[in-house]
Amino acid sequence: MKIFHDSTSFLLYLVILAELFVHSSSRPTPCPYSVFEPMIHQLDKIITSSKKLHGLPEAELVTFMDIEHKLDSLPVIKHTAAHLNSLKVNESLSQLYVYVESFRLHTKWLKTTQENVSVPFQAAEGASTHLEQLSNLTKKFLEKIGEQVPQTASPSLPVVSTAFESLRFSVEISDRLQVFCHWSKRILRQLQRRSPCSKH
Ligand SMILES: *[C@@H]1O[C@H](CO)[C@@H](O)[C@H](O)[C@H]1NC(C)=O
Ligand SMILES: *[C@@H]1O[C@H](CO)[C@@H](O)[C@H](O)[C@H]1NC(C)=O
Ligand SMILES: *[C@@H]1O[C@H](CO)[C@@H](O)[C@H](O)[C@H]1NC(C)=O
Repeated sequence: MKIFHDSTSFLLYLVILAELFVHSSSRPTPCPYSVFEPMIHQLDKIITSSKKLHGLPEAELVTFMDIEHKLDSLPVIKHTAAHLNSLKVNESLSQLYVYVESFRLHTKWLKTTQENVSVPFQAAEGASTHLEQLSNLTKKFLEKIGEQVPQTASPSLPVVSTAFESLRFSVEISDRLQVFCHWSKRILRQLQRRSPCSKH
């Protein structure tokens, strides 16, 4: 055939053919962004568990509203609406991974303190399992897009000896974890909307 002047054109031809084949095949091509939906699903489960971390009804929570901030190691989520428009997938997901790991370690610690002081720990256990699943999904996504998975450090957390102390920490974690989950859902939805492969 005359059109192939050299082997490069021929290779190019093959590549285009291969691409055409991939795009026209009926099976959807796997998209790394397809993991965002299961991630959001985990966030919903974490929200459900985090509301139950302290076992207090809404009315009694008011008593704890103005407790001083005690867990300095909890991530501080800085967010603005403007930030949403300038998100970069690689940076947002790396940041998400660091936060998820931090919350995972805090809820794992909370579960141990609750066990120690003999208060129910099932919600903390559930939250930490879902945080682990979310962490795993985030890590796999980062690996798939060729992004380095950030190193995370273990927070140094206090020893808790009374049920009251444990309760205060659980209220604080519950509060911060819910804010984090809602914010993360917004970020993932925003990135999902911009995903190159979500609208097929
Ligand atoms: C993330 O990706 C953008 C391009 O999309 C690049 O400019 C930026 O340097 C990357 N950031 C990191 C931390 O790798
Ligand atoms: C997360 O990944 C680790 C390592 O691959 C695995 O051992 C663990 O079971 C996973 N956790 C969950 C909750 O899926
Ligand atoms: C739980 O109790 C054990 C044994 O008393 C203690 O070593 C550990 O530090 C306690 N953990 C927390 C998180 O308070």
